[in-house]
Parts: sequence; C-alpha cells; structure tokens
Amino acid sequence: MAGEIAIKIEGLTFTYAAGSKPALSDINLEIKRGEYLGIMGLNGAGKTTLGLSINGIVPQSTMGFYEGKVTVEGLDTSTTPVREMARTVGIVFDNPEFQMSQVSAAEEVALGLENLGVPTEEMPPRVSAALATVGLPGFEERSPMGLSGGQQQRLAIASVLAMHPRILFMDEPTSNLDPIGKEEVFELARKLNREDGLTVIVAEHECEVLAAYADRIVVLDQGKIVMIGTPSEVFARGDELAKLGLRVPQATELALDLGGSDKKNLPVTTEAAVKWVEAR
Ligand SMILES: Nc1ncnc2c1ncn2[C@@H]1O[C@H](COP(=O)(O)OP(=O)(O)O)[C@@H](O)[C@H]1O
Ligand SMILES: [Mg+2]
Repeated sequence: MAGEIAIKIEGLTFTYAAGSKPALSDINLEIKRGEYLGIMGLNGAGKTTLGLSINGIVPQSTMGFYEGKVTVEGLDTSTTPVREMARTVGIVFDNPEFQMSQVSAAEEVALGLENLGVPTEEMPPRVSAALATVGLPGFEERSPMGLSGGQQQRLAIASVLAMHPRILFMDEPTSNLDPIGKEEVFELARKLNREDGLTVIVAEHECEVLAAYADRIVVLDQGKIVMIGTPSEVFARGDELAKLGLRVPQATELALDLGGSDKKNLPVTTEAAVKWVEAR
C-alpha cells in the first residue's frame, strides 16, 4: 500500500464569504498513504480549513464558495456524506476539554460509533480496544473531566480511532497542553503512523515537533502553499520563513548560522545537530 495516494487535492479554492479573500487558494497536493505530513502557517493561514476540506465539512456543512476537487481514499469529499467520511478521516481539534461531553470515557468514545450506527453489542470491544491503543486501558468508567490534558487529548484521539479511520488529522492538538501532554500526544501519533500505518496530518505552529516527526512539511501562507518538502528542505529556507513570521528549529538555526547549506542534510533536531557539528 505504501506509495499509493491517500489524499489528492486539485485546484482547491474556498472562500467563506463573498468579497473576502479565499481561505484556501488553488491548493494542489498529494498525500501518500502512511505519510506523516506537517502543516505550518500563522493563524489564519488556512490550516483548519484545509483539514475540514479533507473530511467534507468544507464544503458540505460550511457556507462558502468552493472550487476544485478533493479525493480521499477514492471518495469525493464534496459529495460523500460527512458522517460517511468520518469512517475514513478522524479529526482531533486543539482543545480536548471542549471536545468532552460525556460522563465516562467509554461513553465519550462510543459517541462517534452511535453516529455511525454501529450495533450496541459491538461497541464495548471497540471502545476498549481504542482506549488501549491510546494508552488508556481500563479507563472506561473514568470521568473525562478528571483526566490530565494529555489524557483528554488521547481520549479524543480514541474517539476517532474507534471509527477505524485510515487518516488522522490533528489540528494544533497540543496547543493547550503542558510539555508532558504534548509529548504523550506526539508519541501516540508517531506510533499510529509507524506501527498501524495511519496517514497522519498535523497542523502545528511549533516547528520543533514537526521537525522531529514529519516526513514532509507544507507551509501555508494566506491560503496558499508557499513551500513543501522534507523538514531539512523547508527549514533550510529560514530567511523566507522568518519573513512569513515562522521560526525554524534551534538546531537548524545553529547549523544555518555555522554556514550549513546542504538542504538534504541540514539538521532539524538537537540529536542531528550534535552529529552534524561533530562531522564537520
Ligand atoms: N467560519 C468562518 N467564517 C468566515 N471566515 C472564516 C471562518 N473560518 C475561518 N475563516 C477565515 O479563513 C481564513 C483561514 O482560517 P483558518 O483555516 O482557520 O486558518 P488557521 O487554521 O491556519 O488559523 C482566515 O482568514 C479566517 O479568518
Ligand atoms: Mg486553525
């Protein structure tokens, strides 16, 4: 399956309101099955709108003007019912607490399955399996409100994983979490990507985590793709990123300051920077 295309976006332009600038402007992008893609961009760059266009909320449940075509695992997201899309694409948003509505963790996870019409007797094993996958085994009866931020976000991920999606879109999933919670969520996403083969897309403004985990990074600015490449290739363009108001990882900054210019091998993590400096 590796190498096949999971998501194909062709000429996508979306504008929320007449007369305003497009939130997304002529986006063309192919995302491979099993890829871990990072999306970087300032507030308002279009990251969330891009995620919503992948699960069909844009344009189906959003007023606006839509052009182009988005195909996800063979499904046209402008016509496949959003409920149906949820079987293929799971979306997790930034504020876990806000996503919690139920009394117990099990009910929280079961909610999406109810919406899909999964028979009641099939739910407990799927709920328990999803909780175990996110590192919350036996948490069925726990109150979501009593969990840490990192645990809540992992519970939100369990809720979408129970629907067995092939694609996971995380929209700034750790912006409300402490460092430990951030680590928990990114380690989980890495495991789902590497071990279970999920296609993972993460919108994030912290460059360090994308540098450490992403296969490729897309940089959005005012609704347009302005850069795309491996973390080394993208972060090599530190000056251009700075003009867009974006940072590069400290490791890359150090290497660029020391005259590093080999885009393929520029370090993007501290570990790689140490090796890079030693090899000079
Ligand atoms: N529901 C909405 N109604 C009108 N405009 C919106 C709405 N959501 C987002 N926008 C606008 O679309 C653009 C892209 O926003 P968004 O996709 O939320 O970017 P990001 O997630 O990168 O912050 C921004 O200009 C934003 O103001
Ligand atoms: Mg957003």
